[in-house]
Amino acid sequence: MKENQFDSVAPVYDTLVKLIFGKSLYKAQTHHLDIIEQGDKVLIVGGGTGQILKHKAFRKAESIDYVELSTKMIKRAQKHASGLHQVSFYQKDFFDHEGQYDLIVCNFFLDCLDEDHLTLAVRKLEEMLQPNGSLLVTDFRNTSNFSNRLLTSTMLLFFRVFSGLQAKTLHDIPKAIERKFVSDKMQEFKRGFIFSALYRPLN
Ligand SMILES: C[S@@+](CC[C@H](N)C(=O)[O-])C[C@H]1O[C@@H](n2cnc3c(N)ncnc32)[C@H](O)[C@@H]1O
Repeated sequence: MKENQFDSVAPVYDTLVKLIFGKSLYKAQTHHLDIIEQGDKVLIVGGGTGQILKHKAFRKAESIDYVELSTKMIKRAQKHASGLHQVSFYQKDFFDHEGQYDLIVCNFFLDCLDEDHLTLAVRKLEEMLQPNGSLLVTDFRNTSNFSNRLLTSTMLLFFRVFSGLQAKTLHDIPKAIERKFVSDKMQEFKRGFIFSALYRPLN
């Protein structure tokens, strides 16, 4: 199986998320969205079924580029984007995408990558962000809590079997990002198992 192929899980993705996390993933993903300003160019990387597009903050954006590898995820996201006329959907690999953005939204995408691709992705995110732009990352973080560790292993196994997930383990995502970015705002959810942070480029 090719890596990170989410077509097979697209029909059940939102149901699974709701069953396991209730509303907390959506709450975490939307926590910092008031950063969007009138006229911003926004990139959403690996946006999945596009639940986030329902948030009213996106109405202010001048353009929203939605880059997602899975055709079936994109079809679902298109439904959630009704009323947002400035969204362009790109069914492609993020690593092949070019552009310059005021805000890049990268939620539960970096956890799909192995260590080398995580490093490459952080470098690419830095290249694509305007010098005064912001990077919004929401994702999981390793904690010492036993049930969080068990849930992490179960999710990794599930997505490895059904989507060919590239990641074999949950990497220290904030540490990888902080090689190129500095964190402006960091919010924790689920006792630190989930974080949502706004970053700006180091240089
Ligand atoms: C775990 S899901 C998260 C979806 C969404 N961001 C959310 O929080 O519900 C990861 C998403 O990233 C997409 N993806 C994985 N690798 C990708 C790549 N190289 N380029 C674009 N999208 C990718 C998958 O197709 C999948 O929809």
